[in-house]
Amino acid sequence: MIKKAIIPAAGYGTRSLPITKVVPKEMFPIGVKPAIQYVVEEALDSGIEEILIVVSRTKNIIVDYFDHSQELESFLEKKNKSHLINDQSIPNVQLHYTRQPFARGLGDAVRLGETFAKGEPFAVLLPDDIVIAEETPALKQLMNIYDQTKNSVIGLNEVKREELKNYGVATGRYIAKQVVKMNDIVEKPTTDPGSNLAVIGRYIFTPTIFTYLNSIEPGVGGEYQLTDAIKCLFEKEKVYGKIVNGKRYDIGKEDEYIQLVNHYYNSTHGKQ
Ligand code: UTP
Repeated sequence: MIKKAIIPAAGYGTRSLPITKVVPKEMFPIGVKPAIQYVVEEALDSGIEEILIVVSRTKNIIVDYFDHSQELESFLEKKNKSHLINDQSIPNVQLHYTRQPFARGLGDAVRLGETFAKGEPFAVLLPDDIVIAEETPALKQLMNIYDQTKNSVIGLNEVKREELKNYGVATGRYIAKQVVKMNDIVEKPTTDPGSNLAVIGRYIFTPTIFTYLNSIEPGVGGEYQLTDAIKCLFEKEKVYGKIVNGKRYDIGKEDEYIQLVNHYYNSTHGKQ
């Protein structure tokens, strides 16, 4: 059973400047809730009991958001609006935080969770990828494969060939309808990777990943790439890919962010 999850939220969000100079991408509103809350809720709905959020100096707003506000609570009490105190922002889960001193890449951010994971398998959810799944939450879909295989599982999504260059791309052999036994992964391929399976921001890892996160060198973009550590993992263990049922929205892309907000509005206001 996977009970722990790491949410890396320490990046600069350069694709979404200038707003990310002061508002972290993870705090972009979708309705009245920020993106990261949907991801925390997905983790909870999948059975996660403890979450480590990796933040940075400029992300204290995330820590504040998930905490009580004494001023607001006493203000609401005085105004006879105590019914609003039932603060929906505080999730029923044990939250931990750590700081990534420099945004040296996703691999570096996940590596900071080694003590938190305590040698157990764990999940990683990227808070800028929101997956709208009809029934089973995206992470739970990965957990179902983990329960059968006890190996690492990577969330995948079929994308158009011309878009593959923007993602980590997985290759492998189908062992079931939506399950692949992976044999390679390439970060932002510059040549045809021979697959249309892009990695989405949902992962389950065995603790072996830390061996490689501790030894990889900076890769694409001079950053410590999680993809490079996954590549090493293939040599030691089996790694599976699960094509996730659901639609993924990368909120770092303006068009997908707007589509997600529209989707949310339409679904909460009864429109198609
Ligand atoms: P992204 O690469 O999508 O986010 O990382 P970014 O680097 O913040 O944004 P761009 O690409 O410059 O626009 C995926 C997730 O990993 C976190 C980010 O905060 C994001 O949620 N991340 C990335 C870290 O925690 N640390 C890093 O060094 C890099």
